[in-house]
Amino acid sequence: MHDAEIDALARDERLTLAAVWQKRGGLELQVAGGFAAIASELLEHGAVQPVMALVGQAVRDEVHHAEISVELAARYRGDDVVWPAPAPVHIPKLAPATGALRATLHMIAMCCINETVACAILEAAFAQAKSPLVRAGIQSILSDEIDHARAGWAHLASPFVDAETKRALPQWLKRLLAGKLDVLLQDESPLPGEAFPHHGMLARETFREVVHAALDDVVLPGFARAGIDTEPARAWATAGSS
Ligand SMILES: [Fe+2]
Ligand SMILES: [Fe+2]
Repeated sequence: MHDAEIDALARDERLTLAAVWQKRGGLELQVAGGFAAIASELLEHGAVQPVMALVGQAVRDEVHHAEISVELAARYRGDDVVWPAPAPVHIPKLAPATGALRATLHMIAMCCINETVACAILEAAFAQAKSPLVRAGIQSILSDEIDHARAGWAHLASPFVDAETKRALPQWLKRLLAGKLDVLLQDESPLPGEAFPHHGMLARETFREVVHAALDDVVLPGFARAGIDTEPARAWATAGSS
C-alpha cells in the first residue's frame, strides 16, 4: 500500500521503525495471554456478562493487534510478515491475594491501569502521526483498547467486587501502579524510534507527561469513583514517580 511517509525514509530508518513494530507484535500476544488467564479467573470467580464478553473478545483483539503490528513491521522492512515466536506469558502472582481478590487485582492492573494508560498513549501517538498506514493501525488498536479499559471499570462497579474487597484495594493500588509504571517513568533513555514523531513514535518526555496526565485525570479519579480510597496511590504518584 502507498504511504509517502514510509517511502520517504532511508533504509536504516525504516529498519528502526520495523523493529519497534515487530517487538510490539510480540507484546500484543503477551497481552492476549494475560487476557486469556484473566478470562479463566473470571469464569471461576465471577463477572457480569458484559465484562465476561469484553474480556473474551479482548483475547481475539490482542491477536489482531499483533497482526496489525507485524504487518506494519513488514511494510517498513519491505519484506514478508514475520509472526512472533512463542514466548512465556508472565501472570503476576500477587501474593498473598487469592481467589476473587486476585482476579480483581489482575483486572485492575490489566484494564484500569495498562489499558487506560495505553489509550492515552495511543491518542498522543495518533495526534502526531502523519503516516496513513500508522494512523489506520493506531486507530484500529485504540478503538479496542477503549473497550478493554472499560471492562476493568465495569468490573469494579459490579457486585463481584464486594465491600470487603474494596477495603483491601487502596494499598494494592499503590503496589500495582508502582509495579506497572515505576520502571517506565523512571527510565531516562530515549524511546526507540522517538526521532520519528510523524510515524507515531513518542519522545520519552511526551510519554511521561501523557502517563502522568492519564493517572491524574482518568485512572485515580476512576478508582475514587468506584469508592476506593486513592490516598496511598496518590502519594506514590506525586512522590515516587515524578
Ligand atoms: Fe493491544
Ligand atoms: Fe488491549
